[in-house]
Amino acid sequence: MIKSSIRRFRRALLAVGATAALSAGLLTATAGTSQAAAQGPCDIYLAGGTPCVAAHSTTRALYGAYNGPLYQVRRAVDNATRDIGLLSAGGYADAAAQDSFCAGTSCVITVLYDQSGKGNHLTQAPAGGAAGGPDNLANAFEAPVTVAGHKAYGVYVAPGTGYRNNNTNGIATGDQPEGMYAIFDGTHFNDGCCFDYGNAETNNLDTGNGHMEALYFGNNKAWGSGSGNGPWVMADLENGLFSGVNRGANANDPSVNNRFLTAMLKGGPNQWALRGGDARSGGLATFYNGARPNATGYNPMHKEGAIILGIGGDNSKWAQGTFYEGVMTQGYPSDATENAVQANITAAGYDSGSTGTGTLTPGSRISLRATTAPCCTSHYLRHDDADNKVVISGTDSSSSATDKADATWIVRAGLANSSCLSFESVNKSGQFLHHYNYELYLDTDNGAGAFALDATFCPTTGNSGVGTSFQSVNFPTKYLRHYHYTAYIASNGGTNSWDSGTSWAADTSWLVAQPWS
Ligand code: AHR
Repeated sequence: MIKSSIRRFRRALLAVGATAALSAGLLTATAGTSQAAAQGPCDIYLAGGTPCVAAHSTTRALYGAYNGPLYQVRRAVDNATRDIGLLSAGGYADAAAQDSFCAGTSCVITVLYDQSGKGNHLTQAPAGGAAGGPDNLANAFEAPVTVAGHKAYGVYVAPGTGYRNNNTNGIATGDQPEGMYAIFDGTHFNDGCCFDYGNAETNNLDTGNGHMEALYFGNNKAWGSGSGNGPWVMADLENGLFSGVNRGANANDPSVNNRFLTAMLKGGPNQWALRGGDARSGGLATFYNGARPNATGYNPMHKEGAIILGIGGDNSKWAQGTFYEGVMTQGYPSDATENAVQANITAAGYDSGSTGTGTLTPGSRISLRATTAPCCTSHYLRHDDADNKVVISGTDSSSSATDKADATWIVRAGLANSSCLSFESVNKSGQFLHHYNYELYLDTDNGAGAFALDATFCPTTGNSGVGTSFQSVNFPTKYLRHYHYTAYIASNGGTNSWDSGTSWAADTSWLVAQPWS
């Protein structure tokens, strides 16, 4: 408390054949195994009479026989692109191909290939009625996972990121029936409009009620909500996120935050349903199953058949979330088909990919302890609550839960260089440590290249011989430093007061510690 006021004072001073439905054999063949699936979700939809007409995944094949590319990445160093395929037919993404192609530079995901054979690939979304464009592309390293023990990467959608296809083939239009599911990270969301996957307008404009039918995930309450504080799986039907038959709140739609979340939506003439479950185990719960919303314009529907990911129909692009896989079908899938798809999903073996805590491995949680004695060895790097500055302050087991969380970071692959690191706040999802005018701040990753550079640090042996130092990727003579209890990037001697050579080596050396939160 006293140290905190001193610090603040000092800072102030320093400024599956379409045969009859689903066979029990199909279910047993997929459930309970972590092997490459003999059947993919789309084989199951096909067997149910509702074939996939779009199938997107950066992690695995969605058909047992698929052996094409999953996605394409583009690297910053020379703008070259590379398709990322599978380790084997029907299997898992070849993440090592991405790692080697992008080594020493950064990569974005440029294309999500459609595995259905319909050519419904997703690429960078253009400008729309609600926001300019083109939208940002997802950093290819920000959502590492494992699937059946195989490393893979999801699509990390920061606000401003979006994918779209306005010229699709076989996607439902008008009041035609369709189904869809997606696997999201249930811990990565916000209340911005609109983290969607599914059917939208073909002209990037809000063309009226009922012109969309997409899965939404987040805690936006502008149009609808469920029970608790969210986040919720809802249906974006245009000019409305629906959680049931009514506009507004519907108590049967629960808050869901599974690390891996299965979200399902289907809609046909005057009927629709929302379902969801844990993508790692168990079955699906039905959140809504009934008539179209009792509001004008949604019965019949006016679906247009574009496909969006990460944005609203009019390119509203203020939402965040993470997508691993998703499909859209022709026809209204039966509950039994969807249940079999969920069994396939849980058998796939999604895991967080984290190698534990307290290590400089993407996905790991850490706290960073200062090493300068005697002032600061019980001080940890944290973000302020009153502003977006980054400081050090004393933290121990008696610190409040908020103070502990403020001093805890999720290690991410470097936003600008996958060989280095970035640090995301554990309690301010989507916000990263970055420098601005050489001072450290916590802000939302806006997807811009400049932000990525300012948020990327390369770990080196501690400048004092102790612990680890973090070198700014775009100012390589400068390292993450505390100076008068505030965090900067600093060189050993220079024009800024915090470049002072006194204690520079100790101030720039940190111990990577177990996370406080
Ligand atoms: O329906 C919610 C949002 O409203 C849609 O995604 C967008 O097109 C409109 O702004």
